[in-house]
Amino acid sequence: MKQPQRQSVSRDGARVFLEPGDSSSHPPSDKRRTPVVKGIFPPATRAAIVVGKGGEVQWAGSLFPRRKRTADGPFAVFLAPEARAINQARQQHLGSLGLDLDRRKVLEVGAGIGLHTPFFLERGCDVVVTDGRPENVAEIQRRLPGVQTAVVDLEADRALDSLGRFDVVYCYGLLYHLANPERALARLAEVCTGLLLLETAVSPGNYDELLLVRDPDYANQAVSGVGCRPTRLWVLNRLRMLLGHAYIPLTQPANVDFPTDWRTPPIQTMYRSIFVGSRHPLGLATLGDTVPMTQDG
Ligand SMILES: C[S@@+](CC[C@H](N)C(=O)[O-])C[C@H]1O[C@@H](n2cnc3c(N)ncnc32)[C@H](O)[C@@H]1O
Repeated sequence: MKQPQRQSVSRDGARVFLEPGDSSSHPPSDKRRTPVVKGIFPPATRAAIVVGKGGEVQWAGSLFPRRKRTADGPFAVFLAPEARAINQARQQHLGSLGLDLDRRKVLEVGAGIGLHTPFFLERGCDVVVTDGRPENVAEIQRRLPGVQTAVVDLEADRALDSLGRFDVVYCYGLLYHLANPERALARLAEVCTGLLLLETAVSPGNYDELLLVRDPDYANQAVSGVGCRPTRLWVLNRLRMLLGHAYIPLTQPANVDFPTDWRTPPIQTMYRSIFVGSRHPLGLATLGDTVPMTQDG
């Protein structure tokens, strides 16, 4: 059977085919051996498939890690060391861009359990923190009492007017968990009077393209079960269309998920990028208005 190859790396003399996925926010693998599945290649699943030397197809021990154990608690995926490391890199990077983020009215979407929110609270912002999962929002309320929260599912084709208008919309780690990211961006743009700060997993291609992928059933993945991998050009074009101005920083956060050389991207499961959409032109030396082929780390 001909296999739809995505990317391949060499591992123990076998070829490994990968589907891109969220390596950073999963718990580490427990190295369990998984059963052999002869000749079956489920489409659009996040798994590692190994083709042995004899040509037989096997599930590898997943490069995406095991399902969470009950003992991990429902929020372990947000608190894993890799998740904390990427959060720190992303916020350090955001703070370095020279954007005026003090005392703003902020809408945070796909906030998980609110681990990014203190970045804005520390800057005197008035933040409405939201997520598509009620249980995550309840955890945000427990962690950040006094902060306004709401359950907002961005797959629902529903206007966000009832939440108000916002100087800043903060959408980190969410877009690639949506099956209809264009509609979601339109909804966010409707309530955004200033900046739309976006971080997402992307496809490393150079065309205006959107790929759909299936998401596993974790507390930090797609509510709908389907996510996407837009190219950077796709995102830049949509932000420009919806807000008037769109930028990609000249630097990337200091984390392996954020490549700096897009001419020959490294073979890895996640490629992430940062975007800034704006209602007004931003004359910042930290931002470019085209898709960069190289960035500083
Ligand atoms: C990878 S986590 C990102 C958490 C945090 N923003 C970060 O970047 O670390 C993705 C979050 O998006 C939420 N989410 C998934 N599908 C959603 C949807 N349709 N609408 C709103 N939130 C959604 C998940 O519940 C999860 O909390």
